[in-house]
Amino acid sequence: MRLLFKAFCVAALAVAIQPASAADVEAGETKFKQLCATCHGDDGRGDGPAARALRPAPRDMSDAEWQEEVTDDHIRLVTEKGGPAAGLAPTMTAFGHALDEDDLDNVVAYIRSLAD
Ligand code: HEC
Repeated sequence: MRLLFKAFCVAALAVAIQPASAADVEAGETKFKQLCATCHGDDGRGDGPAARALRPAPRDMSDAEWQEEVTDDHIRLVTEKGGPAAGLAPTMTAFGHALDEDDLDNVVAYIRSLAD
């Protein structure tokens, strides 16, 4: 019985420490492949079919240095409001109309998962 109680406590704690809005990387990946991959490539390497026509081209998001210096807020801002909101090119258009708050969290989490 005591063991059962312990097991219950561990399980309850595990649920309790999960952040309320844990971002869903897989859902983010699905959106990314639908909306972003034409330019950014499926894995965010900047090698989507449209990338060659873009100046500047989208960067390789798996780049460790970029991943280290960029903030979640920047990724989110550019995704929601478009490149010009962060001094980047307007060819990076805004996706706020297509993505709700959860989608944005998930897409940011997916981009974060791309680090080499
Ligand atoms: C029509 C092509 C296109 C599509 C579609 C597109 N992007 Fe971009 N994106 C770009 C280009 C080009 C840049 C680089 C802009 C620059 O460096 O000035 C960029 C830059 C970015 C950046 C900033 C990276 C940095 O260097 O700081 C983020 C974040 C980003 N895109 C996320 C997304 C997400 C998420 C989606 C899908 C919801 C998306 N993009 C869809 C073309 C696109």
